[in-house]
Amino acid sequence: MKGYTVQGDRILVTGGAGYIGSHTCKALAYAGYEPVVYDDLSNGHAEAVLWGPLVKGDVRDVDRLASTMSAHSISGVIHFAGLIEVGGSMRRPDLYWDHNVNGVAAVLSAMRQADVSRLIFSSTAAVYGTPAQPGLLSETDALGPINPYGDSKLAGERMIAASCNAFGLEAVALRYFNASGADPEGQIGEAHNPETHLIPLAIEAALSGQSLTVFGSDFPTPDGFCMRDYIHVADLARAHVLALGLDRIDGGFEAMNLGRGVGASVVEVIEAVGNACGRPPLHTIGPRRAGDPPMLVADPSRARARLEWRPEFDDLQTIIDTAVAWRRDRRFGVTSALPNAA
Ligand code: UFG
Repeated sequence: MKGYTVQGDRILVTGGAGYIGSHTCKALAYAGYEPVVYDDLSNGHAEAVLWGPLVKGDVRDVDRLASTMSAHSISGVIHFAGLIEVGGSMRRPDLYWDHNVNGVAAVLSAMRQADVSRLIFSSTAAVYGTPAQPGLLSETDALGPINPYGDSKLAGERMIAASCNAFGLEAVALRYFNASGADPEGQIGEAHNPETHLIPLAIEAALSGQSLTVFGSDFPTPDGFCMRDYIHVADLARAHVLALGLDRIDGGFEAMNLGRGVGASVVEVIEAVGNACGRPPLHTIGPRRAGDPPMLVADPSRARARLEWRPEFDDLQTIIDTAVAWRRDRRFGVTSALPNAA
């Protein structure tokens, strides 16, 4: 097995045509790595693959993954490819278990075939489920997803940890809180279709005059609205590069939270979007969305210590400003009508 990766190495980025994946490719390229994107383009965009080759393939296809790793002399893998919507996972759990769990199994199997030993895994705060008490979530807190998306990601983490133990692989699972914002240089940004995330939908509402539905106002939080920890996508991207370059991975597998450690409610997000757009998004209060925990805010101290990582975009308004700049001048992607537009 090879040791930890060094600059100049080629890194396979599954899902590298997607939102966080493409920003990570940019960060990899700037750090001296060559990203090789592996993506089926079902949700990603070929236009977002700007820093290395694109191989089209299904993430559950072990043979294609292994032959891509060998053909490109890959020395590390960052695995993003998967399904990402909490709400979608409640409606189609079968798809989430298939893509997210079988995808991890295929990546692990291909890595062993191609003799690649280091993996960075795109995980999520959804592995924590509904925290037992309010406060910052640390990696030692209880894990208990409350939706199939979180279940499938936690299963992926566990499969990876077992493979590290059994086969000598080394992996870091990065548990993202709410990825947001866009490349400050405007080259890439968020372009899901259909879009389900709060910030792009609130921007769409502000710019189009349609109304956004707020999912619930009776949560046990200070203002009654759901609270999340919004972290800039470029800060997330940088953390992947740092994890890839770690000298050693304790016990072969480590999990780390990536967030700012600061919560914002849905209404605070709506206000910041209004500031950035010059007019507030119209919104109405609807029922809660199934599977939404009231509050998810990171204790990011482990990532700070282990990766010497600190978010550079450290306030919500700046993060949202980059998202609005991308939406006003985006280079690819369309936004469908607001799902619950009034
Ligand atoms: N929300 C609305 N209206 C909308 C969309 C969202 O009120 O139209 C609310 C949600 O109820 C939630 C908040 O805005 O309270 C954020 O919702 P998002 O859909 O933007 O994001 P989630 O918190 O549901 O999920 C995101 C990622 C997941 C990840 C999770 C971790 O999509 O992959 O953050 O916190 F697991």
